Amino acid sequence: MNEAIRQATGNPQARADLPVLSVVVPTFNERDNVPKLYRKLETALSGLAWEVVFVDDNSPDGTWEVVRELGRQDGRVRCVRRIGRRGLSGACIEGILASSAPYAAVIDADLQHDETQLPKMLSFLERGEAELVVGSRYVEGGSADSFDWHRAGASTLATEVAKRVLGVRIADPMSGFFMIRRDRFEQLAPKLSTQGFKILLDIVATAHGGLRTVEVPYTFGSRLHGESKLDSMVALDFLGLVLAKFTNDLVSLRFLLFAMVGGSGLFVHLGTLFVGLRVLDMSFAKAQALGAFVAMTTNFILNNFLTYRDQRLRGFAILGGLLAFYIVCSVGLFANVGVAFSVYDREPIWWLAGAAGALMGVVWNYAMSGLFVWRKR
Ligand code: GDD
Ligand code: MN
Repeated sequence: MNEAIRQATGNPQARADLPVLSVVVPTFNERDNVPKLYRKLETALSGLAWEVVFVDDNSPDGTWEVVRELGRQDGRVRCVRRIGRRGLSGACIEGILASSAPYAAVIDADLQHDETQLPKMLSFLERGEAELVVGSRYVEGGSADSFDWHRAGASTLATEVAKRVLGVRIADPMSGFFMIRRDRFEQLAPKLSTQGFKILLDIVATAHGGLRTVEVPYTFGSRLHGESKLDSMVALDFLGLVLAKFTNDLVSLRFLLFAMVGGSGLFVHLGTLFVGLRVLDMSFAKAQALGAFVAMTTNFILNNFLTYRDQRLRGFAILGGLLAFYIVCSVGLFANVGVAFSVYDREPIWWLAGAAGALMGVVWNYAMSGLFVWRKR
């Protein structure tokens, strides 16, 4: 052991209140729920050494201020305030990594999960009977009665897909309520996706059946205050995760969306070309240039709303981003034509050369857009 660490751990006071369990709570606009959850945790976990880490994505309702205030009164309450980022999975990952307790739980802030199960979940891990304990709605004794029919249907469908496509063997891989051993989590963390909602599914799929798992039934309640942040985009997130895990992280949803948007640009281009030639009576060169310009613009708008919605450009940043996108795509066009020509030179098969050029273009545009247009802050 390193000398500096030995000195610190030699001090009994430093060890006195070390938490055994870190409860990680992702929050976005949960101001009114936070104090209630804190009280409930205090009751449920009394007698245990615990802490709670709220990870708030700079909520407009000031959730993090409420957490800070609690933290001033109780050292077990901690707050990670993330700025310029959004996402449930990423928040959970950072929350777990921000703590050092040997066990970490994830629970929603809105009291829909049953915090009274936590001691029981912990005891499975402490006794070494499991490495992961899942709060499950779909084992005997659990339920999700508060779901309306379309949400229940979507949940069942997603669970089925996860089981069949990814070979996941637990009953409720879509649950957002679970507890895991820190060392096992730290091993998997570099491979987890920070995008999307489905962190448990990601953990289970990434571990490839290597986590000893126990499921504990609970009843999914109704939300106390505020509203759900799950929108129709979760379906997309889910498909992206399944795709990424199915192809062993070769194909990401982002790339697929980017390529699909690019494909839509082809139709926009041809449509504009047609209008330019037939309606506006332009020369071919001008109509072609107009087509490229309009297609790049619609591609940018679609990518900003879909492909990069988690880091969407807003306000004036849209103009800067659009200009950068024009430049990136123009260079991409040269790369596209260059590759197509050199392939055609060697092997004069028009579709092969065309496809090689298009692939080069989309890969270039994707890589460069990520660097210069929608770069991570
Ligand atoms: N930091 C952060 N960032 N937190 C977020 C974000 C985000 O972008 N989006 C949502 N949250 C927080 C919410 O504030 C809440 O505490 C928790 O994540 C769950 O979000 P809800 O909006 O309440 O989701 P839900 O109730 O519809 O679905 C939940 O339960 C399902 C069943 O267990 C989620 O946990 C699902 O993943 C889960 O399948
Ligand atoms: Mn909820």
